[in-house]
This record gives sequence, C-alpha cells and structure tokens, in this order.
Amino acid sequence: MESEIAVLNQEDWRDFKELRLRALKTDPTAFGSSFEEEINLPDDEWRRKLEDQKRITYAAKILDQLVGIAGVRFESLRHVEHMATIVSVFVNPAFRGKGIGYRLMSRILEDLHSNPKIIKVRLSVNELQVAARNMYEKLGFHRIGLAEKEMRVEGKYYDQSQMELIFEDKL
Ligand SMILES: CC(C)(COP(=O)(O)OP(=O)(O)OC[C@H]1O[C@@H](n2cnc3c(N)ncnc32)[C@H](O)[C@@H]1OP(=O)(O)O)[C@@H](O)C(=O)NCCC(=O)NCCS
Repeated sequence: MESEIAVLNQEDWRDFKELRLRALKTDPTAFGSSFEEEINLPDDEWRRKLEDQKRITYAAKILDQLVGIAGVRFESLRHVEHMATIVSVFVNPAFRGKGIGYRLMSRILEDLHSNPKIIKVRLSVNELQVAARNMYEKLGFHRIGLAEKEMRVEGKYYDQSQMELIFEDKL
C-alpha cells in the first residue's frame, strides 16, 4: 500500500508523540535524545516542536496512521542559512523495507531543492545504523568523515558518520 507524505502541524502532536517515543524506545542509539527525557515532556512542548519556525517535521502515513517521521532543521544566521540538517528519521519497524523511508527522504530533498536558500543538506548517523547509512547513500549523500565518540548511550560510546549532499546544480 502506497504511503502518503505530509508536513505535520501542531494538531498532529499526539500521533507525532506516539511515533517519536516509539523511535526512542526501539532505536535508542539512533538519536541524541532519550526516551526517558521525552516521555515526561508536557503537551505544550510537543505542540511547540511542530510549530517551530526553524524546523519542519514530515510524516509518512498509511490510511491516516503515522508510520514514519523525519525532520529538517534550518539555520537562522546569514552565513549558514544555505544549510539544512536532517534529524529524527524513523520508520516503524513493522513497515520497514518497503521504500517508506526512501520516499519520505526523497520528498524532503525535493522540497529542500525547491527552496532557493538551500544549497547543502547534512546529517549525522550512528555507524551502527547500517540501513540508514545505506539509505542516505542511495539518496546521494556522501560520507565526509567520522566523528568519534559523538554519542554515549548507557555508558557506551558510538561514532557518527557525517554525511552531506550539495545541490551542485544550484551553485
Ligand atoms: C533507516 C530507516 C528509516 C529506513 O527506513 P525503511 O523504510 O525501512 O527504508 P527503505 O525501505 O525505504 O529502504 C531504502 C534503502 O535503505 C537501505 N536499507 C533499508 N533497510 C536496510 C537493511 N535492513 N539493511 C541494509 N540496508 C537497508 C537500502 O539501501 C534501501 O534501498 P534498497 O531497498 O534499494 O536496497 C529505518 O531502518 C529506521 O527507522 N531505522 C532506525 C532509525 C534510524 O536509524 N534512523 C536514522 C537516524 S540518523
């Protein structure tokens, strides 16, 4: 079944919260934030995440159910406002391997490509998240380096691949 890609707004906060918490629980080493930090956030904070002007949250939906999410963060300072950062990418494990993550990310890249300000897209991904790294490579990102011990989860350190994609055609 085909997924529909949508931009979330603050009215979607309950569904967003549910999938975000599932992400933090299922794949703790994929994200900078922890389940324990976010489980007690007040409702207003969840709404604020979706109305933040410097961030857009996209979702993949199947029959109105959120099955995947991904965010884009924008910069406000003039010298760096040509860059966008991909954050919080997650597909519900029951729906993985069906092209949903790829479709979600492709839509984000299309929108960023159409945004006249954006020339460069970047992200960090835990070395262990092989599916994610492969997906980003398939989308055209390339690895520019490895940042060591960027994340600590339950006392264990993890390295992060730094990846980027430059819209050469817009230069
Ligand atoms: C990464 C993630 C979003 C991919 O979502 P998905 O919907 O399953 O991915 P898709 O089915 O669209 O696959 C796209 C590509 O990703 C790669 N990929 C997906 N699953 C893979 C797997 N199990 N092993 C290796 N590569 C895989 C492949 O390159 C695939 O393209 P292909 O099917 O032509 O081979 C999902 O695995 C996930 O949520 N992982 C945990 C959270 C995470 O790591 N987030 C990234 C934080 S930076």
